[in-house]
Amino acid sequence: MADTHQRPLDPEAKPDDRLDNALRPQRLTELIGQDQVKENLGILISAARGRGEALDHVLFYGPPGLGKTTLAHVVANEMGVNIKVTSGPAIERAGDLAAILTNLRAGDVLFIDEIHRLGRAVEEIMYPAMEDFALDIVIGKGPSARSIRLKLPHFTVVGATTRLALVTAPLRARFGAVYRLDYYDLEAMQAVVMRAARLLNVQVDQGGVEEIGRRARGTPRVALRLLRRVRDYAQVRADGNVTQQVARQALDLLQVDLLGLDDVDRRVLKTIIEKYGGGPVGLNTIAASISEEQDTIMDVVEPYLLQLGFLDRTPQGRVATKSAYEHLGLTYTDEGQPRLL
Ligand SMILES: Nc1ncnc2c1ncn2[C@@H]1O[C@H](COP(=O)(O)OP(=O)(O)O)[C@@H](O)[C@H]1O
Ligand SMILES: [Mg+2]
Repeated sequence: MADTHQRPLDPEAKPDDRLDNALRPQRLTELIGQDQVKENLGILISAARGRGEALDHVLFYGPPGLGKTTLAHVVANEMGVNIKVTSGPAIERAGDLAAILTNLRAGDVLFIDEIHRLGRAVEEIMYPAMEDFALDIVIGKGPSARSIRLKLPHFTVVGATTRLALVTAPLRARFGAVYRLDYYDLEAMQAVVMRAARLLNVQVDQGGVEEIGRRARGTPRVALRLLRRVRDYAQVRADGNVTQQVARQALDLLQVDLLGLDDVDRRVLKTIIEKYGGGPVGLNTIAASISEEQDTIMDVVEPYLLQLGFLDRTPQGRVATKSAYEHLGLTYTDEGQPRLL
């Protein structure tokens, strides 16, 4: 579906990729927040290094913009190895994967983004490659076809996905470590804003940091984007300094509200409430009503609304909670709401 309006909060939008890369932390110690992941990963890495072995396969999952790609690069940096970057949809045929695998060196990291989108035939090559470091190839056709097994160097797959549920059980079982990334708390978000402001040379005071941190929906990539937009506003409408007041005005103008909801988030909630009496209503119905893609709603909108407690997922569909009504300034009646009897 063509998206004509620019979402200030879309953590998947790509225009600032180059800047994102420039701002990416390179080492574990540079990473803000995600303390548990950092600690566990630190142990995994030190242990593998201590034994002089390749790192076990690692899977990161969580909503977009929380640091999965960043972590993959950090893993390679900390191990002191090369990283080869690809993605599920990019590996179309089994032969593509075979070519990638045979070019890896011992210890290398193979980063597969959106790993839930690997094709079936490709995935089947992955199983022995990850488990036995072996590549089975079939030579010839028909009755004379035979399979030979090539040895691969010990390498490390780092996978990333926004949809753990779509990663098949056999693939998941081949990862020695699986880490979930969560939304960042306020303190971490402020640290992300401060770090980016320093690197981008933006003058921002404590109030400005707080305002942007609070409205960036716990997502570093969103914080970086909002900081850039607020910087623009400060430059054009003020003296270039990002104060709390300047940040507020800029973010209000972008229609990012006090909890970090944007226009699409609000439309999702309003559709459930105003058109479907608060729910339950199916995801496909919501998507059709507001002309957004289901994937965007599932990956970006819903996880945050769930986290805020504005949305419930029931077997019958999505339901808006009382807090959602209150946040939008609507009157809550629990008529028609599903009730536990
Ligand atoms: N823990 C972190 N500390 C500081 N910045 C971070 C952190 N995690 C992510 N970022 C920033 O957010 C941006 C998006 O992160 P990314 O790794 O691309 O997310 P994902 O791959 O999960 O969508 C990166 O460019 C990086 O600058
Ligand atoms: Mg990524």
